[in-house]
Amino acid sequence: MPGKSSPIGVFDSGVGGISVLGELARTLPRETFLYYGDNLHAPYGTKPEEEVLGYVRGVMDHLMAQDVKAVVIACNTATSVAAAQLRAELELPIIGMEPALKPAAEQRRGGQILVLATPMTLRLPKFQALYDRYGEGAVRLPCPGLMELVESMAFDQAQRYLEEHFLAYDMQQVDAVVLGCTHYVFLRPILEQILPGHVRILDGNAGTARQLARVLEQRGLLTDEKEGAIRLETSGDPASVLPLMQTLLARA
Ligand code: DGL
Repeated sequence: MPGKSSPIGVFDSGVGGISVLGELARTLPRETFLYYGDNLHAPYGTKPEEEVLGYVRGVMDHLMAQDVKAVVIACNTATSVAAAQLRAELELPIIGMEPALKPAAEQRRGGQILVLATPMTLRLPKFQALYDRYGEGAVRLPCPGLMELVESMAFDQAQRYLEEHFLAYDMQQVDAVVLGCTHYVFLRPILEQILPGHVRILDGNAGTARQLARVLEQRGLLTDEKEGAIRLETSGDPASVLPLMQTLLARA
C-alpha cells in the first residue's frame, strides 16, 4: 500500500513531461518523483486513440507496481485520452494537464489566442469542452512532428517549424500563444525570440504543480521526509534517453 513516503509517478510519451517535473520538484522539493518517459511508443499525439490508451494503461501498471501514491500525467495528449477513464477505475489520485486556455482567455485583450498542441489533444472532446467555455478568439494550431524535434534537440529546425506555422497569422493581432503540449515548453526561449514582445506565452505546468500539492494535502499524503529525489526511467534506449532527460531537467 502506498503511503506518505511513497514516490509520485510522473509520465509522458517522452521527455516533454520533464518540463512539468522541474516545476513539480520546485513546488514540492521534499517529495520523491519517479519519471517515466514512454519513448518506445512516442509520439502519442498522431496515433489512434485506442492505441495510446493501451500505452497509457501499460505505463500506469508499471508505476503502480512501484507503489506510487499519486500519478501526474505530464502530457496533454495522454490526459485527453485517458484521465477520465483512469480516474473512474482507480482510487489513486491522478492529476492531468490541459492547455492553459482559461488563463489566456482571462488575460485576452480582444486579440487572437493560438493554441499549439498535438492533433489528438485538439481533436478530442476534452479540448472541445474547454474551447466551448474559454475559446473566444482562440485558434487551434496542431503541430504534428514538433515533439519529435524536441526529442532530438533539433532546436534550429523547431524554430523554422514555428516560423513557418506562424506565417498564416498577423502576430500583431495575437494576444497569447498557449503551449498545449509539454514538449513545447522547452521551445519557450525560441518563442520569446521570434514572437513580438506583447504576445504572452502560457503553459499549464505551474497550475499542475499547484493542483498536485492541493490533492496531496487534501488526502493527507504530503511526505514527512526532509529531502526529495528524482528517478528517471524510459521504455526507450536508456543510454540515449537518460542523458537527454538529465540535460532537459537542468533546463527545466
Ligand atoms: N508531451 C505530449 C503532450 O503534452 C505529447 C507529445 C506526443 O507524444 O505527441 O501532449
